[in-house]
Amino acid sequence: MRVLTFATAAASLALNVSGFIDDPRVVRWNTLSGKQTQLVGHRGEKAFMPEHTRASYWQAAVEGADYIEPDLGLTKDGHLVVNHNEWLSENTNVASISQLAHLRANKTWMDDGKLKTVTNDWFIADMTLEQIKMLRVNQAAYAWRPQHFNGMFDVLTFEEYLQIIRNVTIELGRPFGVIPELKSPLLYNRGRSYPRYFEDRAILTMRHYGWTKITKDIDTSQHADLHLAPLRPLNGTCLGPSAWQSFDQETAAYLSRHTSTPVVALNQNLPWFFTPKGLDRVSKYAQIVSPWKDFFVTGAEAYFTSQNITWNPKEIAQMGGFIAPDRLAKEIHKRGMSISPYTFYDSHQSMSYLCQKGVKPGSKSGFCPKDKSEEFFYFFGLGMDFMFVENIVEANVLRILYTNKLEQRRTSSDYSADQQ
Ligand SMILES: *[C@@H]1O[C@H](CO)[C@@H](O)[C@H](O)[C@H]1NC(C)=O
Ligand SMILES: *[C@@H]1O[C@H](CO)[C@@H](O)[C@H](O)[C@H]1NC(C)=O
Ligand SMILES: *[C@@H]1O[C@H](CO)[C@@H](O)[C@H](O)[C@H]1NC(C)=O
Ligand SMILES: *[C@@H]1O[C@H](CO)[C@@H](O)[C@H](O)[C@H]1NC(C)=O
Repeated sequence: MRVLTFATAAASLALNVSGFIDDPRVVRWNTLSGKQTQLVGHRGEKAFMPEHTRASYWQAAVEGADYIEPDLGLTKDGHLVVNHNEWLSENTNVASISQLAHLRANKTWMDDGKLKTVTNDWFIADMTLEQIKMLRVNQAAYAWRPQHFNGMFDVLTFEEYLQIIRNVTIELGRPFGVIPELKSPLLYNRGRSYPRYFEDRAILTMRHYGWTKITKDIDTSQHADLHLAPLRPLNGTCLGPSAWQSFDQETAAYLSRHTSTPVVALNQNLPWFFTPKGLDRVSKYAQIVSPWKDFFVTGAEAYFTSQNITWNPKEIAQMGGFIAPDRLAKEIHKRGMSISPYTFYDSHQSMSYLCQKGVKPGSKSGFCPKDKSEEFFYFFGLGMDFMFVENIVEANVLRILYTNKLEQRRTSSDYSADQQ
C-alpha cells in the first residue's frame, strides 16, 4: 500500500494533475472527473488572515488551495474592488473616517431572490476608488479571528487580486484557479450607462489578465475609460483555471453566454432550483452548481422551512418535487454539472448545521456531523467536485487522509481478489 504523505501530496499539488486519473495506481473519487475534490480558499484564507486582503490570498496559495476566491463589488467611478459585503462598516474602519461621514446611507436591493436592507452604513457603490483606498481592513466584528492584523491592509481592486494570483503562480511555480463572485449585480448595475455594465467590466478585466476569452460581443465602447495595467510575464508557468460565480441566475447565464469560463450557479433561496426540472434549467447555463451545504444533509424542504422561505407546492410538484438530500449530488452529476457546496468554516467558528431528518446531534446512526473530519469525509464521499473551505491546510490534510482510506479500501479488495 502506498500511503500518501503530506510531502508527496504537496509535491503532486505542484504538478499539473490533468490525466491523473488514467493512472491505474491512483484511486478514483466519486467526483465527475474521478479526481480528488478541488479546494477553493474561501475569501482567500480567512481563518488566519483578514479576508480578501493580499495576506489572505498569499496564505491561501502557500497552503495549496486549488482556487482562491475573490468577491467583487463596483465603485461609483467604475473600479472593481474585492469585498464580501456591499457595505463597509463590518470589516473596515470606515466609521472612524470623518471625511467619509457624509456618505452614510440606507439601501435596499434584491439579493439571491430576497429583498435586503442595510441601514446607516457606507456602500462600495457610493464611493470612489480614492475613498475606498482611505480604508483599513479591521476584524473587530469577528471575535474568533486574529485581531493583531487590524489596520495593516487596504481594500484591494480586482486587478490587484489578479496580479497577486499571477505573482504567486510565478513565485511558487504552480497554477492557482481564479473564481470571482459577482455580488448583487442588481445593485451594482444601478445608475450605470447600460444594464450589464458590471458583468462586462469584470469580463474585460479577466480577459486582460489571461483568464477568459470573450465568446459573444460585448459593448467595449462603454469601457474606453478602463485602463488595465501591463502584465508581468509568467516566466514559463501556466495560469490556472478560472470560473465565475453568481447568486444572480441571470448574471450567471450572461457570463456563460459571453465567455469561455465555466459558471458556478450559487443558490440557497430559490425553491425551484432544487427540483429535477429546476436543475434541467440550470444546466443550460451553469457548469457547476453551488448550494449551501445543508441541502445535502437535511434537504431543501427542512432548510427552506428553517429560513422561513415559502414555496408554491403545486409549482414544485410540477417541477418534479424537491430532490431528496441523498439524491442531490447524483442528480446534479447526471446532468453533467459539477458540484461546489459552501461554506466549510474554520473550526473556530460554529458549524451551524442542521442534521439529517430525524437524526439528533451526537447519535450514532444517520448524519449530524460533530466535527470537521466527519463533515469532510461525508462530503468527499458524496463526490463533491469543489468545496469552499477555510483553514486550507486542515482541508488538505483531511483530503490526504480520505485518499488513504480509499487506497486502503482498494488494497484490501485487491487482496481478497488475490485470495480467490
Ligand atoms: C436610515 O433609516 C433610518 C430609519 O430606519 C433613519 O432613522 C435614518 O436616518 C436613515 N439614515 C440615512 C443615512 O438616511
Ligand atoms: C506582483 O509582483 C511584482 C514584482 O515583484 C510587484 O512589483 C507587484 O507589486 C506585485 N503585485 C501585487 C498586486 O502585489
Ligand atoms: C524565471 O525563470 C528562470 C528560469 O527558469 C529562473 O531562473 C528565474 O528565477 C525565474 N524568475 C522568477 C521571478 O521566478
Ligand atoms: C422565522 O420566523 C420565526 C417566527 O417569525 C422567527 O422567530 C425566526 O427568527 C425566523 N427565522 C429566520 C431565519 O428568519
